[in-house]
Amino acid sequence: MDRDERPEDIVKALKSIVGSQWVLTEETAIEGYLRDETPEAIRPHPAPWVVLVKPSKVQEVSEILRLANSRKIPVFPLGGRTGLAGAAIPVKPGIAISLERMNRIEVDLENMMAVAEAGATLGDLIKAAEEGGLSFPLHPGDEGAQIGGLIATNAGGVRAVKHGIMRNFVKGLEVVLPTGDVLNLGGKLIKNNMGYSLLNLFIGSEGTLGVITKAVIKLLPKARYTVTLVIPFEKRRDALQSAQLIMRTGIIPLALEYMEWEEIERTSRHLGEAWPAKGKAQLLIILSEFTEEGLLQGCEEISKICEDNHALETLIAERKEEQDRILRIRSNLYTAIKPYVYDILDVTVPPGRIRDLMDKVDAIAEKYGTRIPIYGHIGDGNLHAHIWKEEGRGLEFANKVKKEIYEASRSLGGVLTGEHGIGKVRIQEAHLALGEKEIELIRAIKGVFDPNGIMNPGTIAG
Ligand code: LAC
Ligand code: ZN
Repeated sequence: MDRDERPEDIVKALKSIVGSQWVLTEETAIEGYLRDETPEAIRPHPAPWVVLVKPSKVQEVSEILRLANSRKIPVFPLGGRTGLAGAAIPVKPGIAISLERMNRIEVDLENMMAVAEAGATLGDLIKAAEEGGLSFPLHPGDEGAQIGGLIATNAGGVRAVKHGIMRNFVKGLEVVLPTGDVLNLGGKLIKNNMGYSLLNLFIGSEGTLGVITKAVIKLLPKARYTVTLVIPFEKRRDALQSAQLIMRTGIIPLALEYMEWEEIERTSRHLGEAWPAKGKAQLLIILSEFTEEGLLQGCEEISKICEDNHALETLIAERKEEQDRILRIRSNLYTAIKPYVYDILDVTVPPGRIRDLMDKVDAIAEKYGTRIPIYGHIGDGNLHAHIWKEEGRGLEFANKVKKEIYEASRSLGGVLTGEHGIGKVRIQEAHLALGEKEIELIRAIKGVFDPNGIMNPGTIAG
C-alpha cells in the first residue's frame, strides 16, 4: 500500500476517537517516531505510510484496538524508541500508538509501589520515587525510555545485579487486548499465585500481545549510602577474576560493569568529559547500602580483592555529581560507538562463563581479522560485542561474525539476547536458541491473544 491509498476513513475514525490534533500522518511530523536506536546498517525500514495516534486514556486505546482489529490493521505500540532491536519500528502500513500523553505517576508510600502510566519516562519514575522518599534502582541507559517500553522489553541495563531486571519490579499491569478488552493483571501484591502469570507473559512481549497502558511498579527504600568505584587493571583476566571474587563475598553491588580503555576514551571524547582512571580493563561498581559501616566495609573488601589481583588503583566517587557523571559516560558507550558498528550484540551466558565468552569473542575477532569491542554487565553475564564496520566488508561479513558469537554464547549455555530482545532484527535467528516446540508454543500463545496478528507484526512470533 502506498501513501495515496491511505484509507482516509480510518484516519477519520481515529480522529473521532482521540481528537483531530492527536492523529498525525504528515511525514515531517511522524518521522522521528519511525526509528529507534538500532544501528543504521541493520535497522528495519518503516512502512511507506503510518498513522500516528496519541491517545490520552485507556478507553481511547481500547477503541483504537477494536477498530484496528475489526479491519485487520497492524498496530505498533511505541515507547521512547530507545530500543536496539527494531521492535518499535512500524514495518507494515498501519497504526502507530504513542502513549506519551499517558504519563501520570502516583507513588504509594505505604505499599512502596508506583502506579505509572505507560508513557511516563524512566527519568519521571526515578524522580517521582525520589520525591516520594523512595527509589527505583534500575537504569537501562536512556532515561527517555518509557515505562510501557521498559516492561514490553523487560529492560535490564546497569544497576540490575542487586535487585534484578524489570520483571522483578512489575507487580501489576493494565493492558488492552486487540479485542479492546482491558485487563488488570496482578496488583499491589508481593505474592500472587492465581495460576498462569499472564502478567509475566506481557513482560518482555515486545508489543505483540496487546498494549500496556499502566503498571504497578515496586519501589525500594532510598538507599542512604551510595558510592561508585572505578577500578582500572592492566589485564582483563585480573579484572574478571576480581569481579568473581567480589560476588562471592556476599557483597551484592547494584552494578558490576566491565569496560575497556578504547571505548571509555572514545566516549569521554564524544561527551567532552573526563574519565577518572586510566587502565586497559576496568570495573565500574556501584554500591548501595543502608548503613555507612556497610558501605565502608564493602569498599574495603572490594579494594582489597582488587589490589590482590593487581588493580592499578581504586577510585571511589562519593559526590552525587561525580557518580552521575561516571554513570552518564557509561550509559553513552553505545552512543559513541554506534556510528562505527554494524551491530551491537547482547549475548548472555551464565555469569561464571563470561570470561570464556570474552576469550571466544577475541578468537573470533582474530579469525576474521577484525576488532570486536566489548563491554558489558558482567554481574549478569551479559556482554555487548560490537561488529565493526570494516572497509569493503559488508553485511555478509557482519552476519558471519554474528553467527559465530551466537554460537560461542550457545556453547557456553547462553542465549542470543539477554537484554535488547528479539525485536525485528533477531527474529530470523531466534530458532538458533529456541527449540521447534518452543517456537510452536510461542506462536500458539500469540494466536490466543491476537488471532488476527495485528499486534506489532514481525516481532517475536513472526
Ligand atoms: C548498554 C546498552 C547498549 O549497556 O544496553 O549500554
Ligand atoms: Zn546493556
